[in-house]
Amino acid sequence: MKRLLDLVVTENNQLNQNYCLIKLTTPDGTLLPEMYPGQFVEIKVENSPSTYLRRPISVNFVDKSKNELWLLIQVVGDGTKKMSEYSVGDTVNIMLPLGNSFTLPTENPKQELLLVGGGVGTAPMLFLGASLKDKGFAPKFLLGARSKNDLLQLDDFLKYGEVFCTTEDGSHGEKGYVTNHSVLKNTQFSSIYTCGPKPMMVAVAKYAHSNNINCEVSLENTMACGFGVCLCCVEKTREGNICVCTEGPVFNIENLTWID
Ligand SMILES: Cc1cc2nc3c(=O)[nH]c(=O)nc-3n(C[C@H](O)[C@H](O)[C@H](O)COP(=O)(O)OP(=O)(O)OC[C@H]3O[C@@H](n4cnc5c(N)ncnc54)[C@H](O)[C@@H]3O)c2cc1C
Ligand code: FES
Repeated sequence: MKRLLDLVVTENNQLNQNYCLIKLTTPDGTLLPEMYPGQFVEIKVENSPSTYLRRPISVNFVDKSKNELWLLIQVVGDGTKKMSEYSVGDTVNIMLPLGNSFTLPTENPKQELLLVGGGVGTAPMLFLGASLKDKGFAPKFLLGARSKNDLLQLDDFLKYGEVFCTTEDGSHGEKGYVTNHSVLKNTQFSSIYTCGPKPMMVAVAKYAHSNNINCEVSLENTMACGFGVCLCCVEKTREGNICVCTEGPVFNIENLTWID
């Protein structure tokens, strides 16, 4: 059930010019609510008149040993800029957890699972990978970025599985887009999970569909209210238009119209 909490910033690490990793905990040691991979939170950005609506951010990781929630932030406008300026000890009002979550397999720990992330869409993949490893699976990660400097949290990903990368300029991993990576030719995956820019997710979805691979995508449609009222996050599905904030953000690609 979603809750409104005041969390306290314990760390804010600048990862590069555009990204930071914020860690938060409860002020009084109360346990954070249970969160699942694919879910997101809505952050209230204080002292920012242009940002009166909460901003949706994926759950990047939950460190249960420290009772910490991690959020990976890409600075794109006023709201995310304010978040990047949080200091240790600052209080942040957060609605959480929101949305549905990825479907974790329940059998055959030897099956090949691929987690594909592009840009800030790598954020939910860390928590998903950690949860899969926790359940005895050995996920593989395929991370795409413009260049080496934009590939984030590689050391964290390596704790949970093998990591493959593509960069558009060839500065790290294979040159090109994730859908061209050789791991797709060399491994028979049973499921692919993906989050990132829409053109990337559509390409991954089409690849999965044409190869009979189960595939779930996490959509990052622009949101305003976050609870199904404003209709600005609507996505066309086989069951009609639905709100990503309440019915998603995770969808099986067979329910979307992208692969038609
Ligand atoms: C379910 C979900 C999960 C998300 N997870 C993360 C995350 O983990 N980390 C993260 O940094 N961001 C994430 N986003 C995107 C994030 O919500 C937006 O970047 C943020 O709301 C922008 O706020 P702003 O005030 O900084 O920018 P604004 O001033 O609101 O917008 C600045 C620019 O960013 C564009 N923009 C705004 N929202 C989005 C969006 N949803 N997708 C693409 N472009 C957008 C605007 O069109 C505009 O060009 C997520 C979005 C959703 C819906
Ligand atoms: S964000 Fe308002 S309906 Fe989804």
